[in-house]
Amino acid sequence: MIKLEDNLGRRFEKLRISLLNDCNFSCVYCVSEDFGNVKTIQKPVTDQPLSPEEFAKLIEAVHRLTGLKSIRLTGGEPLLYGNLFQLIDHIQKIGISDIRLTTNAYYLKEKASKLFYAGVKSVNISVDAIDKDIFSKISRHPNTSRVFSGIEAAVKAGMNVKLNAVVMRGKNDSQIIPLLDYATDLGVKIRFLELMKMGHLYHSENGLFFPEKEILDIIQEKYAIENIQREHAETSNYWRTSGGGIFGIIANESTPFCHDCNRLRMDSNGIFYGCLSNAHGEKLSAYMDDDFLLTEKLRGLLRLKQPVKFHGSELSMRNIGG
Ligand code: 5AD
Ligand code: SF4
Repeated sequence: MIKLEDNLGRRFEKLRISLLNDCNFSCVYCVSEDFGNVKTIQKPVTDQPLSPEEFAKLIEAVHRLTGLKSIRLTGGEPLLYGNLFQLIDHIQKIGISDIRLTTNAYYLKEKASKLFYAGVKSVNISVDAIDKDIFSKISRHPNTSRVFSGIEAAVKAGMNVKLNAVVMRGKNDSQIIPLLDYATDLGVKIRFLELMKMGHLYHSENGLFFPEKEILDIIQEKYAIENIQREHAETSNYWRTSGGGIFGIIANESTPFCHDCNRLRMDSNGIFYGCLSNAHGEKLSAYMDDDFLLTEKLRGLLRLKQPVKFHGSELSMRNIGG
């Protein structure tokens, strides 16, 4: 294996794949008000994603050069990808057994056990509110109760479940404690995310940003908290509460985490991105059999990582994968 490392010692160890950019939700931070995403680099939702074989070929080549430790399947909504189980099977055969999923959980209830037995032991689930009306307004979907049955099915199936909530001022800051208490009762971790300037938010001044400090203040009004040591390449800092829960905050603005980022991303068309904050992508399919050129291309992508913090990008999370 060739040494692919930048001057901060960063390597590509985790690959996130956006299997398709289609999604049954239209979260306000991901999809613009007019759904047209005029200013974003958002491909039409009918865009044809790669087949499991095409994905597998790309993963295998990158794995050969970088020695990937894990793969996260995301989207759009990855459970809408028709050949999901075939793809998981291919990834297992490549020799990567740590396969994770990021989902809105709408279709998870039916699939949790099957996913677990296929080798998906970890799942991150987006849940932005406990209150039905607030959640529906954010996800722009009328039936968010399925998210909770999906979460509970994943826990029951034995999956390691983490919840993600993007906190937005005036929209769901009232939900921080209800979300934390829900996660604590269920025995799972929850992470609160500072809003990132992705996609249609890249050019917008919206007053929605809700910083880490205010999240901590709200939690500390109810609980005493104790910081937990951050692990290498973690996007989140974690705290333990006196109520027995564990929560994290992904605070790109307040506590940036670019310095040890180990992530590489691929979109549904096989275009690779070295950094969430850089919209430049590389189609690597032409270099699959040429390790020298492929290494050079990956080196180029590694150079796109930010030194300190993320500044945003015109790419939507839906395309590049959360
Ligand atoms: N800012 C912060 N988090 C975001 N996500 C999607 N778009 C944004 C954004 N602009 C989150 C989703 C999900 C994960 C895939 O990324 O809520 O948890
Ligand atoms: Fe779908 Fe995730 Fe985007 Fe929400 S944030 S619209 S669940 S892709």
